[in-house]
Amino acid sequence: MYALFATVFILLHLCACTQSKRQLVIGVSQCSEDIWREKQNAELRMAAYFHDNVELRFAAAYDSDERQVQQIDSLMKTGIDLLIVAPNQVATISPAIDRAYDKNIPVIVFERKTNSKKYTAYMGADNYEMGHMMGKYIASQMHGTGRVIEIMGLKGSSPAIERHKGFMDAMSAYPGIQVAATLQGDWTEQSAYKAVSECKEDLQNIDYVFGQNDRMAMGARRAFSESDGAPSATKFCGIDGLPGENGGIRLVRDSILDATFIYPTHGDRLLQMAVDILEGRPCEKEVFLMSALVTRENANVLLMQNDEIVRQSDYLDRLHNKADDYLHQLDTQRIINLMVIILVVLLLAVAVILYRYHLQKLHIQEERGKMEREQLDFYTQAAHELRTPLTLIEGPLDQLANTPMIQNSKGEAAEIFAIVKRNTSQLTALVNKILNVQEKGEIPDDHQAAQESSSEQTLQPSSPPSPTFSETKTLLIVDDNADIRTYLRTILKDKYQLFEAEDGQKGLEIAKEQVPDLIISDVMMPVINGLEFCQKIKDDMVTSHIPVILLTARALNQHQIEGYESGADAYITKPFQPDLLLARISNLLRSRHQLRNLWNNESKGEAPENDTKNAEEQIEVKENAFIVRFKNVLEERMGDSDLSVEDIASEMHLSRVQLYRKVKALTGNSPVDLMRRARLARAQKLLSETELSVSEIAYQVGFTSPSYFTKCFKDEFGKVPGESR
Ligand code: FRU
Repeated sequence: MYALFATVFILLHLCACTQSKRQLVIGVSQCSEDIWREKQNAELRMAAYFHDNVELRFAAAYDSDERQVQQIDSLMKTGIDLLIVAPNQVATISPAIDRAYDKNIPVIVFERKTNSKKYTAYMGADNYEMGHMMGKYIASQMHGTGRVIEIMGLKGSSPAIERHKGFMDAMSAYPGIQVAATLQGDWTEQSAYKAVSECKEDLQNIDYVFGQNDRMAMGARRAFSESDGAPSATKFCGIDGLPGENGGIRLVRDSILDATFIYPTHGDRLLQMAVDILEGRPCEKEVFLMSALVTRENANVLLMQNDEIVRQSDYLDRLHNKADDYLHQLDTQRIINLMVIILVVLLLAVAVILYRYHLQKLHIQEERGKMEREQLDFYTQAAHELRTPLTLIEGPLDQLANTPMIQNSKGEAAEIFAIVKRNTSQLTALVNKILNVQEKGEIPDDHQAAQESSSEQTLQPSSPPSPTFSETKTLLIVDDNADIRTYLRTILKDKYQLFEAEDGQKGLEIAKEQVPDLIISDVMMPVINGLEFCQKIKDDMVTSHIPVILLTARALNQHQIEGYESGADAYITKPFQPDLLLARISNLLRSRHQLRNLWNNESKGEAPENDTKNAEEQIEVKENAFIVRFKNVLEERMGDSDLSVEDIASEMHLSRVQLYRKVKALTGNSPVDLMRRARLARAQKLLSETELSVSEIAYQVGFTSPSYFTKCFKDEFGKVPGESR
């Protein structure tokens, strides 16, 4: 999460850094507002386009000292980096300029001067020179004689003082020219008009009027032209020489003014000087701008040049606007890109968080599953550990209860025995209950157990099964617990011949060798567990017919299912009732007995198909196939009177015992009996279908003595061979 915020922060920071060039704020304090200053401000703005980090703040004092001082102070407060100032008057503005300078704000004094030395640089034209040259021009036009008047600009402003000085110095060289009056104006047209109008009477025969700027020259002209209605011969000269609509150059071209002097604005140079100072580049302290006289001879050319400049700057302006638009689009695009990146990062982060959450959930589920499995294993183990000793207490107690010693006992001994018996039952019930709770009810409850046990009881025959065969049945007990084996032995030893094994591996060996009639096996055993053992028994041709009872403490449904899947014929949980076990054993032995009909009915000499059969049917198919094989061997070698059981067994890759027990278990007859019956059946067939003599037939079916054949034939069919023809 922190990484995510860091990424977003870095992206925002990077975005901000793309515009991080230091912003330069330049304050421009103009003493007045008129077309000359408008032109200059426009040039400053245009030049600022080339510096995207420059911001201009303009102020115009409208010829008021007081206002200009205030404006300079407030410009400083807004936090300017440099001040450009055209001071209204020499003395009055100086303190404000000094304040700025003292605050380490660089100051460029432009066009008008102050009496302070506290400025960084000065830029302007040489006003004395302009006054002087204009004086010389007028004198030359007047051929050294005549009358002239001068109208001065704002009193106390440096250009007015310097232009006057230059003009007067020029005039002093022409004694034939009389400076009839020096009138005071304030740079505005109105001030000149007023000044001239007021003393018009005294201003007769004036050849030239020198207005210190074009506007005042025009004001004087208006006043003169109003005097007597007749066209005046007086000529008017000014200074500024602006190119625009009402500018001096046009007025000269149109012969309204006689001459003017270009007073350069040069806003672009001014701005470059400011940027150089702010960015620490070296620059001159005093820069004087060039100017030129405009007369009728050059006015037109100058106007044409100016039109071209205006056209070019319009073009530049349009280009700049276009570039501005592109930059704006670029900015928008950049913001959109940034948003998209942030969104993608956020989405990725959400995806990662969700994925991690999912993994965590899976992990928890896995852990829970593992814990549940471990818990189950633990209780399964516990069940085994508890139920086995309980079996070994409860069972023997039941056995003891049936002995005359206990049955006949009275008094204390009987009571003690009853106490032990009752408490053992209670302990068994308690253990079952606890394990039930822990195994989440999967172990059958008392009620269920009672039901199951009663249903088992119904399998038990009302009277002990009468054995069909005289031979004692053989049982194999497989259990790693010696006590359980001993206990089982006490229950079973009277009825059955017993084999014992302490693990699955040994059990398998004995089962193959002895081919017992039934196997009782524990499930949880070392080496090979009961399930695997059972499966192996069922897979081996020699032992596949043997019924297997799994006797175990693993009481869960799932465990029982596993048991049956391994091929077990019965599943009895510990602790068990000995009677129930006995009933189960005899029941299974009896149902095996029924398979013995195989010999007579089912086996027709061919193995039946064994697909799509259930497990029980498949076992039957397997047994059937065995019998079929056995029959085929007999048929083939029937004529061989020396044929022994060993011969047949070895042909079937079995030992004599294996063959004997398997055949006996499946058919109820010994191999020898079956061999004799097969011979006699063939003999009966030959008797009815051929003309062979009894002796010939006897030899053909493998008897060595015809008289013995006759005896056996009679035993089998109830009549002698001759009678059966
Ligand atoms: C413009 C102006 C010009 C004149 C100059 C003197 O404000 O009045 O007409 O030449 O100032 O500073």
